[in-house]
Amino acid sequence: TSSWKLKPHPVLPRGKPLLVCILDGWAEGIEDEFNAIHVAKTPTMDALKATAPERWRLLKAHGSAVGLPSDSDMGNSEVGHNALGAGKIYKQGAGLVDHALSSGKLFQSPSFAYVKEAFSASPNRTLHLIGLLSDGGVHSRFDHLVKLMHGCASHGAKRIRVHVLTDGRDVADGTSFQFVEALEKELAQLAKKGGCDARIASGGGRMNVTMDRYENDWRIVERGWRAHILGDAPHKFSSALEALKVLKEADPSKCNDQYYPPWVIVDKEGQPIGRVGDGDAVITFNFRADRMVMLSKALEYDKFTHFDRTRFPKIRFAGMTQYDTELKLPRHFLVTPPEIQGTSGEWLVRNGVRTFACSETVKFGHVTFYWNGNRSGKFDEKLETYKEIPTDLDIQFNEKPRMKADEIAAAASNAILSHKYDQVRINFPNGDMVGHTGDLKATILACEAVDQGIKVCLGAVDQAGGIFLITCDHGNAEDMVKRDPKTGKPVRDASGKLQPLTSHTLAPVPIAIGGPGLHPGVRFRNDLPAAGLANVAATIINLLGFEAPSDMEPTLIEVRPP
Ligand code: 3PG
Ligand code: CO
Repeated sequence: TSSWKLKPHPVLPRGKPLLVCILDGWAEGIEDEFNAIHVAKTPTMDALKATAPERWRLLKAHGSAVGLPSDSDMGNSEVGHNALGAGKIYKQGAGLVDHALSSGKLFQSPSFAYVKEAFSASPNRTLHLIGLLSDGGVHSRFDHLVKLMHGCASHGAKRIRVHVLTDGRDVADGTSFQFVEALEKELAQLAKKGGCDARIASGGGRMNVTMDRYENDWRIVERGWRAHILGDAPHKFSSALEALKVLKEADPSKCNDQYYPPWVIVDKEGQPIGRVGDGDAVITFNFRADRMVMLSKALEYDKFTHFDRTRFPKIRFAGMTQYDTELKLPRHFLVTPPEIQGTSGEWLVRNGVRTFACSETVKFGHVTFYWNGNRSGKFDEKLETYKEIPTDLDIQFNEKPRMKADEIAAAASNAILSHKYDQVRINFPNGDMVGHTGDLKATILACEAVDQGIKVCLGAVDQAGGIFLITCDHGNAEDMVKRDPKTGKPVRDASGKLQPLTSHTLAPVPIAIGGPGLHPGVRFRNDLPAAGLANVAATIINLLGFEAPSDMEPTLIEVRPP
């Protein structure tokens, strides 16, 4: 961009502190007893809804509105916060990988040549594929893994080891069995067709093994390292299906897909079949960044102090994509990530706007890293303050559904009342993090905690004469049960039991604006019925007193004579 100077807004002034509050996993859904938000006491959000249509409306938060391949793709925090912060809709990871695979470009990339040199070098060299075994389309997709394996085999891979993290979070709990069966079939095909020795070598539940994010708990990555790389885990089995079955039977309450302990597959002599050795190739097949950054550091960095790797094999490693473009991590990647430029964060900093951003660890990167277009640093140390509130470790999210809502609300209020910031941006994780457990009762409490947190923040906005913009990144808590897509009625399994819904949804999300500092003539336009999350950035820029850059999706607001 040649000039970063924003024009002043013709009517809206600068200098009113603006609270930007994201409720993670909170949307409008069917209002019945499985809608945790509906059941919860949420007087603050209810009062905001009563200001519709002038100051409350719904936004699209799924599918093509956030750059996903199809409108049957549910929203997620990565694409949601990217769209919110950037004000533009970028084609996101899943679609980019689809294209790279179907066009064959992936196999022509220099990074593919780099790993291929390792796995095709000698019959003893192994190609390891590590990632989330799921078709959720949030972090990874099963069909990508299949196409990748077949492509690698046809490019000379003779020995493939797959290290699988089971999901149960973006897809229903218990589906790990189906995914492992389907994967075993593909692996058998590879052996039959291509004479490739292809097997599952290790695994574990994604929340317990490997896929931590934002450096919340390195022990999770360490467990993954030991299982995938060293072939060392407390549980050893002769097949992946046996692992899932035996572990679940031994401890049905703890062993769900998300939280399986680490396990390795061993041969008849009890030796692990898929240790990573010198000269091997490793590809991580997740396209989403947040939960691959930590593992990538362990795989790539010579200097590494977060845990003792015991052995650091000399490997050729490529990510499905580059997980952190600022850190250039990993150096080798198969698909170029979306290049998100000119985010609202950067525009505002370059126009002197001071920002405070805060959440607890599990969502901290959402309002910083993803908001800023997948950049881990700040644009300007002087103008930005990022506060991370540590997430409690060793406790499941449904055991303490309040999480750090009170601490986040207090930090935001202090920031607003300090008058040191023009924009105070926060994320309340509860609806999402507790919603993912599938525990309806706990999720109701989670939503109440969020509503109380908002109330505290709005008190500070009132006192400071400020403005608020409250919105959400995607649905989750508003639907806690699996439904028949046609009738919307809850479905029961063979034994007559309801199926908890742990995943996100396709539902639209609310946005509300207000506060004593808001010009009385401001209202939502009525000519943008299909608006989505990407329309929020221009809205924020207006509320901070500027005209938005012309390449952003249009603002949601207009100013009428009061
Ligand atoms: C996760 O990583 O926790 C889920 O797969 C997606 O949740 P998020 O998009 O809300 O982070
Ligand atoms: Co989520």
